[in-house]
Amino acid sequence: MKHSLISQFENAGQGQVFRFWDELSPGQQTSLLEEAEEIDMEEIAQLHRSLVLNSQDEHHDFPDLEPAPFIAHPAQGGDSSAWAEARNVGDSALRSGSVAAFVVAGGQGTRLGYDKPKGIYPVTPLKEKSLFQVFAEKIRAAENTYETTIPWFIMASHGNFQDTVDFFESNNHFGLQSGQVHFFRQGRMPAIDLEGKILLSCKSSIAMSPDGHGGSLRALVRSGATKIMEENGIDVLSYFQVDNPLIKVIDPAFIGFHLQSQSGMSSKMIPKAYAEEKVGVFCTQQDKTVVIEYSDLPEDLMHARDESGQLKFLSGSIAIHMLSREFVNQMGGAGSTNTSLPFHRADKKIPTLDDEGNPIEPESPNGVKFEMFVFDALPFSEKTVVIETQRSSDFSPVKNAEGLDSPHTSKEDQMKEFVSWLNTAGEAVATDANGVPLQLIEVSPLFGYDGPSFVKSWNALTEKPDLSQPSYLE
Ligand code: UTP
Repeated sequence: MKHSLISQFENAGQGQVFRFWDELSPGQQTSLLEEAEEIDMEEIAQLHRSLVLNSQDEHHDFPDLEPAPFIAHPAQGGDSSAWAEARNVGDSALRSGSVAAFVVAGGQGTRLGYDKPKGIYPVTPLKEKSLFQVFAEKIRAAENTYETTIPWFIMASHGNFQDTVDFFESNNHFGLQSGQVHFFRQGRMPAIDLEGKILLSCKSSIAMSPDGHGGSLRALVRSGATKIMEENGIDVLSYFQVDNPLIKVIDPAFIGFHLQSQSGMSSKMIPKAYAEEKVGVFCTQQDKTVVIEYSDLPEDLMHARDESGQLKFLSGSIAIHMLSREFVNQMGGAGSTNTSLPFHRADKKIPTLDDEGNPIEPESPNGVKFEMFVFDALPFSEKTVVIETQRSSDFSPVKNAEGLDSPHTSKEDQMKEFVSWLNTAGEAVATDANGVPLQLIEVSPLFGYDGPSFVKSWNALTEKPDLSQPSYLE
């Protein structure tokens, strides 16, 4: 007898998913059914209608768009006493153990062209530490400072989950206790062709892909992560992306501003370096904070300037957020109101099969994937706060194999930060015209994770390293 799920797919015009059913082994049939079960066909049909057939709906006019207000960094004229106060609030929250770290690491890293989870990528200038090791050491450094345990939630995808867990296990969790590191999987969505047909990746499997970093909110709830938070008195998650080794994983001032403003979701901004920089922009629309993607921001707004000549829409979004547990529950489906994030469409080359079952490796996009973006949650947060940070101490992502935002630029940025700390400690370092040291320098986060912590360790050294040689400070 035909499985009822197969009939449902046929009735929805998606019978092609089971086209090779009779050729499959019982095990393959079971796994195909399991994948099919995850799919909400009504949702797929609706996304096809709204994002593929009526795709012009995705492009809006923004008649009422204004730049979002932000709290300026003290180095840019911000109020240092307000920052000091926020830092105190953050320090207390950290000491009381109510903050956890959260990295989204479920991406596919296509641009980098790395076939393992991106967090495994070697990223530091001298020791070639992985991104995951850098974050783990930053967490340990904060734990030492605040004499507390900082749980770490790590979201992976179905595709990279096991490799991620294995990497941590084979490295003894980089000195963290295994019980404080919580891994979970994000959701996934099927890819469709332009006619709305769900694509197969092989005869026994649907072309499924991770549902975007916005999927993190419901995955936190569905996986039980928010329950673990509640049981452990964790109120706040420090959200960051896996590709940014410069990130201040734990930033007391940011935590403080978030708590002081009773915000559900808070964000960091950097001033855009130039009008066309490919980062989203924080804006206000009908009293709500929103991020408008660079590709959606109309040209005239992108280039608009204020009276002082500064870009009007200045605030670049760098995917660093603070999330309250309550807000995650609300957005992740555990709240009393049923809010959910919109999906976006991404046209992709999706390897699939032809009618006879021969593999197709498309040379141009042949289908559509659906993803949610975490910043789309911002307008749902009753209160939000955006604070300014400095690119040089918070943001240098590894996105591309070469050129902009590559391992090369990120290593240079890490070293420039180390040089700035050495300078603060009164040490002159030979650099090139861009401030990159002539010899490799690396500082372990356990030695120093910002200017003051570095200077303290530096001053305590009985023997200073010879910086005219490659130097590692640990
Ligand atoms: P990117 O947008 O840079 O995507 O992700 P990516 O998949 O890593 O890289 P490309 O576009 O294929 O080259 C930004 C952050 O969001 C996470 C990534 O792991 C990264 O930390 N992410 C992205 C997820 O966790 N899940 C997703 O479905 C997508």
